Amino acid sequence: MTDKLIIFDTTLRDGEQSPGASMTREMKLRIARQLEKLGVNVIEAGFAAASPGDFEAVKAVAEAISGSTICSLARASENDVRRAGEAIKPAKSGRIHTFIATSPIHMEHKLRMSKDQVIERAAMSIKTALEYTDDVEFSAEDAVRSDMDFLVQVFDEVIKAGAKTMNVPDTVGYSIPFAWGERMRQLIELVPNSDKVIWSTHCHNDLGLAVANSLSAVLNGARQVECTINGLGERAGNASLEEVVMAVKTRRDIFNLDTSIDTTQIVPASKLVSSITGYPVQPNKAIVGANAFAHESGIHQDGVLKHRETYEIMSAESVGWNANKLTLGKLSGRNALRQRFTALDIEFANEEEFVAAFNRFKELADRKTEIFDEDLQALVSDEAVSKVNEYYRLVSLRAHCETGILPIARVVISIGDKQQDAETQGGGPVDATFKAIEQIVSSGTELQLYSVNNITSGTDAQGEVTVRLSKGGRIVNGQGADTDIVVASAKAYLNALNKLHNNSERAHPQI
Ligand code: KIV
Ligand code: ZN
Repeated sequence: MTDKLIIFDTTLRDGEQSPGASMTREMKLRIARQLEKLGVNVIEAGFAAASPGDFEAVKAVAEAISGSTICSLARASENDVRRAGEAIKPAKSGRIHTFIATSPIHMEHKLRMSKDQVIERAAMSIKTALEYTDDVEFSAEDAVRSDMDFLVQVFDEVIKAGAKTMNVPDTVGYSIPFAWGERMRQLIELVPNSDKVIWSTHCHNDLGLAVANSLSAVLNGARQVECTINGLGERAGNASLEEVVMAVKTRRDIFNLDTSIDTTQIVPASKLVSSITGYPVQPNKAIVGANAFAHESGIHQDGVLKHRETYEIMSAESVGWNANKLTLGKLSGRNALRQRFTALDIEFANEEEFVAAFNRFKELADRKTEIFDEDLQALVSDEAVSKVNEYYRLVSLRAHCETGILPIARVVISIGDKQQDAETQGGGPVDATFKAIEQIVSSGTELQLYSVNNITSGTDAQGEVTVRLSKGGRIVNGQGADTDIVVASAKAYLNALNKLHNNSERAHPQI
């Protein structure tokens, strides 16, 4: 057993399976660069066979990143594995992660395959994957509800076929820490040649136990944890990377393991993922929540001031808080902005794009005296978001609120090359704005979520709005940022409509 714990990040694949969180190639590239800076060992960049867009995204990440292994997911089918193999080809170090379900319920109702057929498909996919890379991972989907004897047989065969990493997923978030650790221990004990491969754990959070289960697997021999930034992921999410890493680091006395993670990059990674996906982080979330290091009670405050360790088991700085640096202001010039973008690893395809960002920065600086790194990140996300598809574009917005009268909003938007306007009342200025937009577009969508987050502190902070819309089974998240939250809301709503209009279809890996 090695004393290293491999951190396999699947924010760009399982994280992307969160409702509405699907990401463009540029978005994935920005997150991948931050994951590389964070020091994750493996980046699962996507599911290459899902869509041409995801294939291109995995390929682009494979081209751009050299400090982490780049992985693509693939169902156990020849086509999926070959697509994954082609997508990771440019990577300095590339991995194919192939999987097939092994539980009776999945084999009977989803795959309609016998045990022998499942084993045959798993072994065949590994052989095909080995044509592209010698770094092949196999997952027994729904291992949590699979029969132990069958699991042992499957893993035995895939080790013989040449896979190097054996991933054991709790696909449905059903396990509890004791049972999950025990399952890992038994597999390592019973599978022949188990010491020749790396055992990995992949937990979902349906019972709120993904991190606890992952750690229990680690205590029982797993040396790779699959996780996501902010615990993003399918349904209740995956094990959160920041919680796993900080638990292993803070309780080194128990785990006696190291990771390659630069923990000071955790908060920047969390903020980037949240701003790109539109999934806000709850304030009381461990490690990356706004209150994670805030001491409210007088006794705690007094204790921390006298000796930090009285109430803190790790420092805010060690996970990257305090990155809230004042960077630029109204008088800052192009060079200063360019340097700050470079420091934030934000690249522009050409000078025109940089000039557009500079102009937006100037507009923002007119309304907000202090511009922080987070404002610059939001500004770039907002720019990227508005480029998704500019079919609907906000031209102007006027909203009026006054005590005792119903708020009213007038919205002008361009649709293709035409401009249209509407004026409506609503329960509040945001409600009136959305109603006015709907009066123009009649989208037939259902609003599933509306959330506002301040990007930095203070009443002049930019508000970052997420709007989730659904239509005919499709769900999209739209985002917008502005110092005026009514404007941010209108941008977010139009961004969601643009994504729906942009009707790009992708397959889901588990179907
Ligand atoms: O949850 C799961 O089983 C997965 C596999 C594809 C690893 O995401
Ligand atoms: Zn999963």
